[in-house]
Amino acid sequence: MSNVIEIEGLRKTYRRRGQVTVAIDGLDLTVPEGGVFGFLGPNGSGKTTSIRCLLGLARPTAGQLRLLGHRVPEGLGAGMRRIGSIVETPALFPTMTARENLRLLGSVDGIGPRRVEAALEMVGLSDRGDDLVKKYSLGMRQRLALGAAVLKEPDVLVLDEPANGLDPAGMREVRDLLRRFAAEGRTVFVSSHILTEIEQTCDRVAILAAGRCVTHGSVDEVLAAAGHRVGILVKVEDLVVGGRVLEAAGLVVERVDDALRVEVDPGAAAHITRLLADADQWVTELRPHRFSLEDVFLELTNAPEEVAA
Ligand SMILES: Nc1ncnc2c1ncn2[C@@H]1O[C@H](COP(=O)(O)OP(=O)(O)O)[C@@H](O)[C@H]1O
Ligand SMILES: [Mg+2]
Repeated sequence: MSNVIEIEGLRKTYRRRGQVTVAIDGLDLTVPEGGVFGFLGPNGSGKTTSIRCLLGLARPTAGQLRLLGHRVPEGLGAGMRRIGSIVETPALFPTMTARENLRLLGSVDGIGPRRVEAALEMVGLSDRGDDLVKKYSLGMRQRLALGAAVLKEPDVLVLDEPANGLDPAGMREVRDLLRRFAAEGRTVFVSSHILTEIEQTCDRVAILAAGRCVTHGSVDEVLAAAGHRVGILVKVEDLVVGGRVLEAAGLVVERVDDALRVEVDPGAAAHITRLLADADQWVTELRPHRFSLEDVFLELTNAPEEVAA
């Protein structure tokens, strides 16, 4: 399987009035062909800058980038026809209809009405194609932008936070679309600062923090990399006493909401129950606990996840 995106040692610094900002600090990233790849990280972690470098919209300070095997920026001309993207707010004319917007866009690349209809159909806007874009909701505009991105029938879609600002229904529509694009054999590279927004949609993820990739792989691999973190969640009446008892037995214990999380193999349940019972701490609930991708994300990026607006 060939790689669609290859980034090696990417570095990007901005200099403003003597102040140097390191936006990307030695990023390595490989995106294989096919599926949805989530490029995740909190705000300011460098997602947009990376994507801009990848598409030749910003010049890297250092590093090598390849898109569909072509070197960026030298080889971009050859590959650009196979790439659809949304970076920042796409330019759509508000006083034109959706259909007119896509036809105008398509005409630049010699794309005719048939493909415009196919794109509208794909993003579920066929029936609303003759509405003026200024009458569109944010979700519909975002779908139209996705329609514009697939107009060329690209093999690769590079999307910078396509679900930003959407309500849960809008996000769901975007998620469904990404899956549909991937099911058609395209590779989707999509960034997000809200993990839960695209967690279930992605086949693979890379998590970015402060301009560096802190973990990457399939969702299962990323979870397994944090694999020593399986444990047992146990509830007792007195969490303070219960915690002390377990710690005295040499266990690593952490408070999680109204329970204790003990870092042991789930097979150690009987041992935990006995330790607590011996100290007159009666277990009211006990179950295996595995950190979610969100826990891994928050821990690695060390930033509270923002609530979607
Ligand atoms: N044009 C710019 N000039 C100066 N600093 C920038 C510029 N663009 C981005 N940055 C800085 O680079 C860092 C990464 O930003 P960005 O790539 O937009 O992150 P993200 O998309 O993950 O939110 C941030 O600290 C941001 O302030
Ligand atoms: Mg961004």
